[in-house]
Amino acid sequence: MASEKSLVAVTCTAPVNIAVIKYWGKRDEDLVLPINSSLSVTLHQDQLKTTTTAAISKDFTEDRIWLNGREEDVGQPRLQACLREIRRLARKRSSAGEEDPLPLSLSYKVHIASVNNFPTAAGLASSAAGYACLAYALARVYGVESDLSEVARRGSGSACRSLYGGFVEWQMGERADGKDSIARQVAPESHWPELRVLILVVSAEKKPMGSTAGMQTSVETSPLLRFRAESVVPARMAEMTRCVQERDFQGFGQLTMKDSNQFHATCLDTFPPISYLSDTSRRIVHLVHRFNAHHGQTKVAYTFDAGPNAVVFTLDDTVPEFVAAVRHCFPPESNGDKFLKGLPIRPAPLSDELRAALDVDPTPGGVKYIIATQVGPGPQTLDDQHAHLLGPDGLPKPAA
Ligand code: DP6
Repeated sequence: MASEKSLVAVTCTAPVNIAVIKYWGKRDEDLVLPINSSLSVTLHQDQLKTTTTAAISKDFTEDRIWLNGREEDVGQPRLQACLREIRRLARKRSSAGEEDPLPLSLSYKVHIASVNNFPTAAGLASSAAGYACLAYALARVYGVESDLSEVARRGSGSACRSLYGGFVEWQMGERADGKDSIARQVAPESHWPELRVLILVVSAEKKPMGSTAGMQTSVETSPLLRFRAESVVPARMAEMTRCVQERDFQGFGQLTMKDSNQFHATCLDTFPPISYLSDTSRRIVHLVHRFNAHHGQTKVAYTFDAGPNAVVFTLDDTVPEFVAAVRHCFPPESNGDKFLKGLPIRPAPLSDELRAALDVDPTPGGVKYIIATQVGPGPQTLDDQHAHLLGPDGLPKPAA
């Protein structure tokens, strides 16, 4: 048992990110180096976040980790890679003679507890927020101040993009050792205040194939993926950066949809093929295109990751009408009052013209609920001692 004095604990939070130029495929499985650069939007932690406490003590006899209250295997290779990497950076720092070296703590074992403020069952990717939060909390507790891209990336590639708020690019880099494969902020969270993000949580019938295994098969078998990485993504990264910088929603939205579609096309080009989209996902795609056609411009844009949930981007003044359109196409089944979560949304009627333009047979319950959120900041350190998920004994507090 650790005595209160000998334990150093840090609690941090980190955001989920959603890619608008997708990462799919590694050139180095071990170092988690991608075959193309990617660009994402960091979502606000008021709606979606991971909270992680990392505690070190000379009294701990082994590294241990609890996820959502349950102890997990700390020997998992990706977790081990993160721990090795952070300890390497900490050693480097203290041997470089920087102030306040922590030579003792380097040999200390760590206890980690992590929780999400959103249900894992919703099928929302949590590994990015989880590993970004882990990297950030470990860095604070071991006194590491260098770039954390590598630590987070070794956990999950997309996690390095959750180390920053706003709009973030992960530069693929060229070096074999991955030192130049890093995340960088393109624009801060305050840059585009009108931008809104709606997560349409779709009922998943089956557990989709994980990203790691999926992209590995794609790299081995899809000629389209190679073409995408070499000949399509470089120009798209430049174009997406421009759209973000100029707050060009039409350009941003169109490119977001095209890149999501191309990613899913590479999944279909994988052999055996992978399909992440469900019938409801495809209905959402049609709904978005009909909504935009009705308005004669790109007012909403979808993107899908390795699962059937849609993430929809729009501007604040379009949210009420689009949500009314979603309600019309996917009438909520029993939970009408819980259909909208997150940022408050003003109710709006659906005009007869739009209803006619959508031209759909409603699918009750197709969308389980909507989480409304916006662009948000990067990881935070919580100063409040009560926020710790681990007690003075280094074990999860009962509520954690
Ligand atoms: C479709 O980062 O989950 O969400 O590096 O193997 O852990 P690993 O994969 P992961 O892949 C994310 C893929 C994606 C697109 C994206 O986020 O860029």
